[in-house]
Amino acid sequence: MIVTTKQLFETAYGKYAIGAYNINNLEQCMGLFRGNLDSKAPFIIQISKGARSYTHKLMLEGMIRSAEQVFPDAIFAVHLDHGDEQTCYDCINSGFYSSVMIDASHENFETNIAITKRVVDAAHAKGIVVESELGQLGGVEEHVKVDESNAKLTNPDQAKEFVERTGVDSLACAIGTSHGAFKFSGSQGLHFDVLEEIQKRLPGFPLVMHGSSSVPQEEVERINKAGGSLKGAKGVNEDEFARAAILGVTKVNIDTDGRLVWTRVHREHFLEHPENFDLRPVGKIFMTEYAKFIAHKNVKLGSAGQLDAVRALVGK
Ligand code: G3H
Ligand code: 13P
Ligand code: ZN
Repeated sequence: MIVTTKQLFETAYGKYAIGAYNINNLEQCMGLFRGNLDSKAPFIIQISKGARSYTHKLMLEGMIRSAEQVFPDAIFAVHLDHGDEQTCYDCINSGFYSSVMIDASHENFETNIAITKRVVDAAHAKGIVVESELGQLGGVEEHVKVDESNAKLTNPDQAKEFVERTGVDSLACAIGTSHGAFKFSGSQGLHFDVLEEIQKRLPGFPLVMHGSSSVPQEEVERINKAGGSLKGAKGVNEDEFARAAILGVTKVNIDTDGRLVWTRVHREHFLEHPENFDLRPVGKIFMTEYAKFIAHKNVKLGSAGQLDAVRALVGK
């Protein structure tokens, strides 16, 4: 059952966060549904612009619609990740996406507001909800002076003004994370102080944390041992998700970790089976391993075990 992210956030706010997982292909789709049902969790499927053009946007749509039939107990939102304005309109008009992200965070404050507001108006007219981003993810290093690093983090006063002027449904905030497998050069963690200030100004309003892969060191070591070269890869401490959820983070974006599972499974498999050229044995291992990974993440996010409560609230 496809629901909006807003419906999922209403049940989660202040208690747990919903995992938002990016997918590109069939194996990720199967592993994602299995892992969420195994752990009885509601979830968000994220589709990036790159994922839409990897094969054809209708291929992903067809796959997810089929998955909905294969897994009738699943409750999930379908969300455009990091959309530009035109892609948002395409998704809004598709009748398939229940949620879009407009990412104009690279623009100045006023332009970000103007673009976000246009997308919000178009989306709300069709019952679709919108996430937007304020602040700049990435590049926040522990050796950078506080003033400089804070300049990239979301400004709490601006966050309040942004939400009020745009009517957006959730806000992605920069609180020290970055995309990809190389997040922190040292021991820096999340900026809970910034999150607390944002929550004070926007009580009850759903916040989103991008760049939330934890880049498990065991995964990195196995990849490197099997011929990979990911030196110095480092991610978010997944034990910090629970505290972030209490402070209003209702959506946690995870993509890189899934790619690491894919890389580890395929590298190890072909190293151990050099004679193999069949794609199905390794595909099956990946689906199982990805499902296990998703179930584990949902435990850390607190969404594991929430499916029946969500079902009762969305009325299915
Ligand atoms: O934040 C970006 C996501 O990890 C999606 O990555 O644009 O390569 O599909 P992508
Ligand atoms: P990671 O690169 O940490 O997985 O972040 C993914 C993300 O934010 C997708 O929007
Ligand atoms: Zn992101």
